[in-house]
Amino acid sequence: MIETKWGELLVVSQKQCRALISDAEVLQLVEKVLGDYAKGTAINPIKLHLPFFPEYNGWNNAMPAWLKEENIHGIKWAGFGFDNTHKFGIPCCSAVIVLNEMETAFPIALLDGTTVMSMRTGAAAAVMAKYNAKKSAKVATLLGAGVQGTSGMEMILLAMPQLTEVRIMDLYQSQVDKCIATLKAKYPNVKFVGTTDKHAACKGTDLVLTAVHNPDPAASTDVLDDIEFESGVTVVTIAGGMSFPKYRQTFDKVIMDFAECLCHRHNVTIGYMKECFNVDVPYMKPDICDAEIGDIIIGKAQGRTSDAEKLYCTSVGMGIEDLIVANAIYKKAKEQDIGQVISVIDDI
Ligand SMILES: NC(=O)c1ccc[n+]([C@@H]2O[C@H](COP(=O)([O-])OP(=O)(O)OC[C@H]3O[C@@H](n4cnc5c(N)ncnc54)[C@H](O)[C@@H]3O)[C@@H](O)[C@H]2O)c1
Repeated sequence: MIETKWGELLVVSQKQCRALISDAEVLQLVEKVLGDYAKGTAINPIKLHLPFFPEYNGWNNAMPAWLKEENIHGIKWAGFGFDNTHKFGIPCCSAVIVLNEMETAFPIALLDGTTVMSMRTGAAAAVMAKYNAKKSAKVATLLGAGVQGTSGMEMILLAMPQLTEVRIMDLYQSQVDKCIATLKAKYPNVKFVGTTDKHAACKGTDLVLTAVHNPDPAASTDVLDDIEFESGVTVVTIAGGMSFPKYRQTFDKVIMDFAECLCHRHNVTIGYMKECFNVDVPYMKPDICDAEIGDIIIGKAQGRTSDAEKLYCTSVGMGIEDLIVANAIYKKAKEQDIGQVISVIDDI
């Protein structure tokens, strides 16, 4: 059992984080914490967005959270670089998570947030899909077969065992093949269909998951703008989707994780999108949202009420999701003597 002194941090690496927690645990934790948020026991301030345009092509987001039931608080610091993959051969998303003790507010742990982020993002998408897809859903489609999309479809297959066919679409066949290989290893009984044609992938599907990282920040249309959606469909977006306000007009209901934060995150881009890319981004107000997923989980709000409805579910991502997963990993790391202790605040 690892014990740390004040000022010491337990550092847990990406590979260690991945080995210490299962998809099923992450799914269960994320569903719980979204319900806690709706009950008021998980506190999630609006995230701070720090864009670097036009000097650099990316941003960092600060995402603090306080979990009252788990008695922990902390922050995820999550960066995004548009050019990472083609320029440096590294993923576009990276993150670290700091956990802090409640009584002193002292930091106690530093964990990789990159894998925690992809697992919890996938889990949050799966919770959206589980609660909002029609019960008879059998066919699901992924647009954008990268890190978040693969994790999202992995978690959806875990949360919705009734799915029999999964279509994987990406601009690049190599991404499609990689994603199918990962999913097939875990779900050998599901029929996987790979394609680079998004129209074919979306035709007649019950569920669409988007996790598209558009390499062009100045693109004026989004990946779903030219898709005709049939009745009964559920769209779950991690990144990319239908342009705002088009999705409000196209879908019967809009479900979000945290409407106020999603609108804030959208609206803070208005200035730099105009200034740097000459793109007009319309202002968004929280009344665009019909229900938050946490309220649906605890039975305070309704999502889908008929098989014919078309639902659009979109998430901004919440620090509480990262923190609850990171805290579970931290506890296991301590118990199993995994990680490295470093002294940071060493003059107290
Ligand atoms: N909502 C959240 O909570 C959350 C959390 C983490 C990341 N994200 C976002 O998820 C996005 C994806 O991140 P990632 O780590 O998976 O990136 P990634 O680069 O690993 O994957 C993105 C994939 O999208 C594909 N793609 C790009 N344009 C496409 C198009 N028009 N049609 C189909 N496929 C297309 C790319 O080829 C790539 O395979 C990023 O924009 C990131 O900001 C959201």
